[in-house]
Amino acid sequence: MNTMNILKRAQEVEPRVREWRRHIHAHPELGMETEVTASFVEKILGEIGIKDVRRCGGTGVTALIRGAASQGADICVGLRADMDALPVNERSDLPYKSVNAGAAHACGHDLHTACLLGAAQVLHDLRAEFRGTVKLIFQPGEEGAGGAAAMIADGALENPKMNAIFTLHSWPDLPVGTVGFRRGAVLASAQAFTIRLKGKQGHAAHPHRCIDPILIAGHVICALQSVVAREIGPLETGVLTLGRIAGGTAGNIIPEEVVIEGTIRALSDDVNKRIIAAVTRIVEGTATMLRGSAGFKFSPGLPPVVNDDALFDRMEALFRKNFGGDHVRVLPEPSMGAEDFALFLEHVPGTHFRLGVGQEGQNNFPLHSPDFIADDGGIPYGVAGLTLLTLDSLGVKMP
Ligand code: NI
Repeated sequence: MNTMNILKRAQEVEPRVREWRRHIHAHPELGMETEVTASFVEKILGEIGIKDVRRCGGTGVTALIRGAASQGADICVGLRADMDALPVNERSDLPYKSVNAGAAHACGHDLHTACLLGAAQVLHDLRAEFRGTVKLIFQPGEEGAGGAAAMIADGALENPKMNAIFTLHSWPDLPVGTVGFRRGAVLASAQAFTIRLKGKQGHAAHPHRCIDPILIAGHVICALQSVVAREIGPLETGVLTLGRIAGGTAGNIIPEEVVIEGTIRALSDDVNKRIIAAVTRIVEGTATMLRGSAGFKFSPGLPPVVNDDALFDRMEALFRKNFGGDHVRVLPEPSMGAEDFALFLEHVPGTHFRLGVGQEGQNNFPLHSPDFIADDGGIPYGVAGLTLLTLDSLGVKMP
């Protein structure tokens, strides 16, 4: 097979992929409630001619493309795209602007879903050329709603089991026409937590008869700044952010309780665990010192996204050869954002690459901004990237 044709084939399907993307963009849905998007995906898969399609994890969709020469070949490659939007009011004048108030594709998942449909079209067209199976995974609920976990619990890893899995994510810091990647960790772990600081309620004028959780909270906030500064090595990476605090009802009442919510980000499980241990120790110690007590709730959390070394080497060589050096960027650093693709990587080796959707030299609006716009000129690179990774892992000999 002539690999140079893959980018050309992706360019051939580009107009349709753009149409799909714009349709999905106009009809964003939140969390696990991606019924309209899932139905659209099923409709397009049907038009392509892919028959082995099923619902998985609620509004998730999986589909199989079997190579025509599959006899005796049990290798399976997974491609995963997220479908959900964000609770954001889109600020744009695009003709395909969101028609659903309070929801917008501000993280580019519309583009991810459309690129996966484009790769499905190209791979279906090429099915005579490969042995083995391609598993397409369209996932709801990436933005904190547990979509990957729900699909895994509903059997997304089985029938058949995957030997490798790949995904892409829009990246406004990269210009259209480029892809970006990075060896090793590319996205952080995410660990949400809630701290409840317990005191004893009473009159603000009689503090000695109360235990003041607001005072405890003040000490806790300051003491927690020492965790990353003093307990995590200067060449290690960790973030501890307190994003919400709530307590009290009136200025003349010492309240019973203060609640603090935050998040921990790290590039390794080790650093994540050390930050959790330090937070627990410091908060408990501080609360005790001031006569109060503390309770904790840590979410299940997401591990970091770490590219498989061997697959990364193949991806880098593949993209450099097929796209040319000008279209390939090595990312200087990982993002401390997180992605529940990490849950698939706990079971299957894989890689994650970034698709350029920004303008060179411009101050592009970031992901999750109401002004974020993914330039869909990068579609051929997204479609070709997913297709090339799949064919390579299926062992298709490419010059
Ligand atoms: Ni995203």
